[in-house]
Amino acid sequence: MKTKLKEELLKAKQGKYAIPAFNFDNLEMMKGIIEAAEEEKSPVILMVTESAAKYMGIDYVFSFALTATNNANIPVILHWDHGFDIDLIKKAVDAGFSSVMLDSSLKPFEENVKETIEIVNYAHSKGVQVESEIGHVGGKEDDRNSDSKGYTDVNEAIEFEKLTKIDALAIAIGTSHGLFKGQVKLQFDLLKEIESKVSAPLVIHGSSQVPLEDLQKTISLGITKINIGTDLKMACANGLKHWFEKNPQGFDARKYGKEAIEFVKKEAKIKIRAFGSNNKA
Ligand code: 13P
Repeated sequence: MKTKLKEELLKAKQGKYAIPAFNFDNLEMMKGIIEAAEEEKSPVILMVTESAAKYMGIDYVFSFALTATNNANIPVILHWDHGFDIDLIKKAVDAGFSSVMLDSSLKPFEENVKETIEIVNYAHSKGVQVESEIGHVGGKEDDRNSDSKGYTDVNEAIEFEKLTKIDALAIAIGTSHGLFKGQVKLQFDLLKEIESKVSAPLVIHGSSQVPLEDLQKTISLGITKINIGTDLKMACANGLKHWFEKNPQGFDARKYGKEAIEFVKKEAKIKIRAFGSNNKA
């Protein structure tokens, strides 16, 4: 069933768990995520990026992701992730997404504030919630590559929240998007400080390949939404490779697709249990 982002994140904060926010790029990934969450009785955030939506077809993805969201027997937040294109974000709002993210984090502070306010006004008038990013989580996100602009500045985060009235705030504390992150060194003291001064639920991006104990520590310090993309892409690809190794002459999409779903489901369950959101639906 469709539910609201902020309310679920506040519940998670009280219960000291985080809700996994999974990106999907195809039907198999989406099914693996929903089935994992249903079997684990976990709330889940189902995320679509711009380029994933363009790949699947924007109208197709709107209709099948909304169907999955409404039909699931656990709370699902359908979330537009890393919106760069304001018109597309508004389209997701109009289509019935639960929440949208605007990513203007590489722009100057004032511009980020201005664009975030525009999206907040539009989305809130239609009952849709908004996440925005302050500081910049670099790496390979969607089809873009960028360097990290540095960690979130605490005073900017306070000011940003006050000016924009966002519902969730993505912060940069040492993660980066994509596969190759080098040695991850999360800034736990910075997180602690931001958490004590910002009231919006806090989000971390770029969480694939980050040791689960580190992510668990961020949860104990107040993170309530953890974004995972690459680990599920890899699980999907590994499912397909595994099936074709066993069936080199195989061709039935329903059979190799099933293996991809199973691999994605297994990986999603690992995250759900590690973040403590199982049995919280
Ligand atoms: P990873 O691909 O590094 O997990 O990052 C995903 C993400 O942050 C999506 O918003």
